[in-house]
Amino acid sequence: MSTPEPRPPAPAPPSAAARYAVVFAIGLMVGVFALVVVLRALESRRGWQDHYPAALMRLYQAHLAGLEADVEAGRCAPADGLANLRTLRLLSDDLAPAFPDLRDHRGFAAHADRTRRTLDAALASPPGDCAALRATVDAIGETCGDCHRDLR
Ligand code: HEC
Repeated sequence: MSTPEPRPPAPAPPSAAARYAVVFAIGLMVGVFALVVVLRALESRRGWQDHYPAALMRLYQAHLAGLEADVEAGRCAPADGLANLRTLRLLSDDLAPAFPDLRDHRGFAAHADRTRRTLDAALASPPGDCAALRATVDAIGETCGDCHRDLR
């Protein structure tokens, strides 16, 4: 006759302290996760803002270089420079939004205005030969340089 095995003692129900610890750990994990999500979102928004001014300037540079290349290659019919001139003019509307810290600076606004006026004049009577295109490129380059001298 076998004596029944003594049954292992039933596990004690978790104490209140242990239950709180589990809830606390879950809460902590959820909290950390939410923090990471929020920080990521903030970072990507600020990251986009950070690239805006440099991106605008790089596009400026690319389109001015396009006009330079036209002069070098002797592509100086009015239609040749038009796309680059138009893009430079449109980009000039982005100066204030791209530099929110500078938009109220009088010098910045004046340089931005002068850049737009220079491009408006070029678009109103597009340069028709290489000498005229050269002069236009120089005039635009001067507006770039003037603003950089004062504000960069
Ligand atoms: C109204 C002012 C203003 C005008 C006009 C302007 N710039 Fe700028 N530019 C700036 C400022 C301010 C910076 C510095 C930006 C920074 O470091 O965030 C800058 C920086 C640059 C840079 C360096 C960008 C980088 O990668 O950090 C280039 C290239 C540039 N400009 C090209 C041009 C060209 C080409 C033109 C003319 C077609 C022009 N800019 C017209 C204000 C101006």
